[in-house]
Parts: sequence; C-alpha cells; structure tokens
Amino acid sequence: MSEQRLQELKKIIEKANYHYYGLDDPILTDAEYDAYMRELLAIEKSHPEWVTEDSPSQRVGGVVASQFPKIRHPEPLLSLDNAFQAEDLKDFDRRVRAIAPDAEYVVEFKIDGLTVALTYENGLLIRGATRGDGEVGEEITANVKTIRAVPLRIREDHDIFNSSLLDVRGEGYMPKESFLQLNAEREEEGLSLFANPRNAAAGSLRQQDSRITAGRKLGYFSYQLIQAENLGIRTQEEVLRVLKELGFTVNPHYRVYKTIDQVIEYCGEMVEQRHSLPYEIDGLVIKVNHFAHQRELGYTAKSPRWAIAYKFPAEQVETEVRDIEINVGRTGVLTPTAILRDVFVAGSTVSRATLHNLDNIREKDIRIGDHVLLHKAGDVIPEIIKSLPEKRNGAEKIFEMPAQCPSCGSPVYRLEGEAAHRCLNISCPSRQREAIIHFVSRDAMNIEGLGPAVINQLLENHLIEDAADLYFLEYEKLLTIERMAHKSAQNLLQAIEASKQRGLAPLIFALGIRHVGVKVGKVLANRYGAMEALRNAGLEELKEIGDIGEIMAKSIVSFFQDQANLDFLDKLSRANVKMTAEHTVTSQILAGKSIVVTGTLKTWDRREIEELIEQLGGKSSSSVSKKTSFVVYGESAGSKLTKARELGIPVFDEEEFKAMLK
Ligand code: IVH
Repeated sequence: MSEQRLQELKKIIEKANYHYYGLDDPILTDAEYDAYMRELLAIEKSHPEWVTEDSPSQRVGGVVASQFPKIRHPEPLLSLDNAFQAEDLKDFDRRVRAIAPDAEYVVEFKIDGLTVALTYENGLLIRGATRGDGEVGEEITANVKTIRAVPLRIREDHDIFNSSLLDVRGEGYMPKESFLQLNAEREEEGLSLFANPRNAAAGSLRQQDSRITAGRKLGYFSYQLIQAENLGIRTQEEVLRVLKELGFTVNPHYRVYKTIDQVIEYCGEMVEQRHSLPYEIDGLVIKVNHFAHQRELGYTAKSPRWAIAYKFPAEQVETEVRDIEINVGRTGVLTPTAILRDVFVAGSTVSRATLHNLDNIREKDIRIGDHVLLHKAGDVIPEIIKSLPEKRNGAEKIFEMPAQCPSCGSPVYRLEGEAAHRCLNISCPSRQREAIIHFVSRDAMNIEGLGPAVINQLLENHLIEDAADLYFLEYEKLLTIERMAHKSAQNLLQAIEASKQRGLAPLIFALGIRHVGVKVGKVLANRYGAMEALRNAGLEELKEIGDIGEIMAKSIVSFFQDQANLDFLDKLSRANVKMTAEHTVTSQILAGKSIVVTGTLKTWDRREIEELIEQLGGKSSSSVSKKTSFVVYGESAGSKLTKARELGIPVFDEEEFKAMLK
C-alpha cells in the first residue's frame, strides 16, 4: 500500500476512462476496472491524506450539499435560433453567405440533455455548473465529478494544459438504456417516473447527495471551448479535435460540409437514424466553421448569427381520449383538457392534452372515447391533431361545456366574440388559486418555495384567501400544515418578506391584469413610477404610451375600477409591499448609444445594468461591432473587450461608467 501504487492506479483508471469515453475504445473490462477501483479506494481509506481532487474516487460521490451556490458564468450561455424545415436552413445559409460567402458548416448532434459548463484551473476541474438563466447558473461540481466522461484533469501533454483557466461547455445527458432502467426501478419502488431522459438527467444533476448522481450513469459530450480563438484555435472543427485531445468526449457524428444542401441531406438522414442511437437527440446544430466568419456574423440579442438548431419534425402517434376535464384558469376561462391513454411521443410520455376551447373540439370533432392523432406542438406541448372517426364503435360521447363552473357552481358564460367559456365569479376558488400561482411566479413576485402544492395547502387550511394574505402569514400557523418543517416555514416566510422589495414592474405584472405581460409591466412602471399614479391614469393617457393599445388600456382602466382589486392593493400596501419603481427615467444621457457590457461588474448584475442602460435611453447589445458606441467592462472580460480595442471603440471600466452617469 504505497503512495506510488496509488499514483499508478490513478493513472490506470483515468486512462481507462479516457479510452472508454473519449476514444470509444475500451482497454479494460468492467471487472478489471472495478478491481483497480477497489484497490484505489482501499489505499485512500487507510491514507485519507493522500486523496487528491483529481482522484477517480471523487467520482463516487458522497458530499451532501444543502444548497447549490449560484455562480455567474464567465461568458453568458446563449441559445440558438430554430429551423424546422429545409427552407429555414436555406434562409440561414443566405444570411450567412451575404456576409461570409465561402463559409463552411460543422453539423453536430443536438444532444437532448442539459448544458453543463466546466471550468479547469491549471488543468484541474474546479467547477461544474448548470445553465441557469444563461448568466447565472448553479454550481454542481460534486455531481458533475461523478460523470465518468468528464475529465477531472485535462491531459498534461497538450499545449493548452498551460492555460490557467479553461472553460468547456457541453451537454450532460442520460442514455436511453439508463433512463429506461432507472424508471423501471423507480416504478418498482413506487416512486414517480421521469418523463424523459432529459428530465432524468437534470434531476440527477440536481441531487444534493452526489452518490445518487453517481448511480445514474450520465454521459457528457463537449462541444465548446470558451476563448478558443485566444488559444490559437481557428475553427469549430479544431475545437472538437482539441477537446478530444484534451480528454473530453466529443460526439463522433459531426460532419463538415461546404454547402447547405449537404447539411440538409445529413439532417434528413438523421430524422430516421436518430431512433437507433443510444441517446436522444432532438435535432442538429449547424455552426459556421471558421471563427473569422463567426466574428463577422456576430450575434443578435440572444443568439449567434453563425449557428442554428435544426429541430426534428414532431412525431405523430395514435391514442384515445378517455375523458375531458375542465380547468378554470386565473381569468375564469374554462379550459377543456383531454385525459389520454398514456402514449410515448417525441421523447416523453403524454397523458393529457389541452383542447383549448369548445370550438376547437367541435372543429376537430373530438369525442370522449375517440381514437385521436397526437403530436407535440413545437416539440413541447401535446396537441391532438385530429380524431379518427373511422375507428368509432358508437360508444363515444359528444362533449358539452358545463353550464355551471365546476369549481364554484356559478353560471358559465360565453361572452360575445370570444371562443372561451368563462366563470365570472372573481372569488371562484379555482381562479383565486391560479391567480396566486401567477402572483408568486418567477417573473412576478418570485417567491421561491411556494409551489402549487403549498398554495393548495394554504388555501385548504384557510390560511390565505388571496395572494395578499401571504404577507400576513404567521410562522406558528404555517407549522400546522402537513409536512411543513421549521426550516421550510422559515425559508418560505423569508422569501415572502423578500418579495416585498421586488418593485413596481414585477408587481404590476403579478396583479394579473389581462393583456399586461412582463414587458408592459416594465413600461408602465417606468412611465408612472408608482402604483398610485398608475391607478389614476386615464384611458387616453394610457393609449398614448408606445406599446399600449386600445384593448390593453381599457383592461388597465377597468382593473383599477374594480373595488375588489383596489381592496387587494390596499392589503398589499398595508403589508408594506413596495409600490414604487426602482428607477424612474430621470435623464436620457445614453440616448442613441449602443452599449456592450462584458465581464463581471460589482455594482450591477447583467440584467440590472441592461435595464439601467435602457432607462437612460441607451440600447444594450450583446456583441461588439462598428456600431457599438462604447464597451463597459468588468472583471474577467474577454474577447468582447479585445475586439472593441481592436476596432478602436472606447472602453470604460465600471468606475468610469459610473462617473459618466453623474
Ligand atoms: S452550441 C452559442 N452545440 O442546445 C452556441 N448546443 O440552444 C450554443 N445543445 O441548450 C450552443 N447539443 O445545451 C450546441 N452540439 C451542440 C449541442 C447544443 C445540444 C444544446 C445546448 C443549448 C441548446 C442550444
């Protein structure tokens, strides 16, 4: 049992991992691998002082974190534009060629998992993080380390090893077989099942006990190396090659093509072949190969112009409508939902599909008991395409809308010109419940830990009647709720308390005024600065605001004419919920300026500074071009700063920018 033997074992095991995952060329049998692993664990057990961060034993898991710390990504994770058909790809090609006529494309599988960002310091894996909102993700290092396809240390014999910090991005996923096996086990244990491999992978990586993650057999394909250009790499193809040399698993099915027709042909082949892959892919990602071309193409607000995701056409399957249920929403609309015989489509099991309204049911002639054709609209929302009347046996029943609200019993109306049937009782329990769910949601008051289940309990126990009552909840009373522990009660009260400071814009959105979404909430908050002012706004005045039309203006005015709503606002006000805007437009000093922010700032997070820029009349953009007025940079700013300097665009640090605002 020597330290030298331990070093040897570490090398053997990591080499085996690399060959297995990185090269798809196993050099050890499972039994041999396990034997080496056992030997290593035994040595480390008797000499804990010899355990290092990059030991394969770190993959076994065990650390129990109470919460995942939030971390800011060094560069935001962008999303991709979607293409659904050949024509979309041709359009993309035309846009590309207008700027980079001789561009070539790298086509990669779009792995259906979740983005995992990896950070290496001096070759050692120091951090793994989820995508989060693209700017800030959750640190899940302990869990990421359990994925054997993720190198704990990058290969030392590569030039890039010497870069002190390296960020790699890729997709964590669960192979189909692991998914089926996991669900089979869960079914046996009476646990809830995962809908698809993607959810299973995400759930596994968010385990607080990484030993559970270790048992989930996840995979990882890497496809992006941040700052690759600064490392002397010139193409995406080279990135994939270098990643592989560094010991990462790169999906081998990528292709490099010169024409979009070749790309389209490959996409077509994969529509069929994807089902025989051991993991799920939901499309292909097409990237312009040369970074020089990528740079010329640049970015839109949220995605690169040099890449596009081709999404596979939605699948269609047959199932039966067992029943039609009614759900009463926040605005009183009665939405019929088909209860289906479980069916697997486009990657997950579907048991319900919205039927939208009675007209839709009549148009498609969907009856209870019917065989129907189902797909996922936009690959996400289960939708019945049509009924199959030829399969009827006469026992099918025609659906009728109920005359009374199934939740409160008040009469159901169909207003003129509307497809919807509505319950008009504003204190209908179903409506109240949905309104509360909306009120606490992320873009509204953002009260974490207050999901529909807890809301149901609060309502059932008569602890609240509406969302404003949340601010008067008492700790002792909360504890009377089933399964509500001290800690969760405290956390919940804290989250509720914190939400009082959310500010005017999210609060306006939270009120659930018809037609008023997040964006209009912001517009109104900026214009009026305080709830009181908005409350007194007249119809004509509202209509004059850009973004606000007749219907919206009417809806806002009538909201503030309703006494029940005013009482609700008063209750919020008594609870000291903040009713004024964070910033009101005081000046237009950034008017006409296009500003790029890069790196980490101390005073603002990315969203805050973007809002500030807009409030001061400027436009915030994500990519540096000749049109950029100036760049504000913070810590660890990278390629954007370099590019601005190259283009001779003024750059300011945070303090200089602040001085500008004074
Ligand atoms: S590239 C700026 N390549 O698809 C480029 N993404 O919207 C950003 N994904 O959530 C991504 N396979 O996690 C890229 N070969 C691949 C991918 C891939 C899967 C995911 C990615 C992101 C989404 C893109």
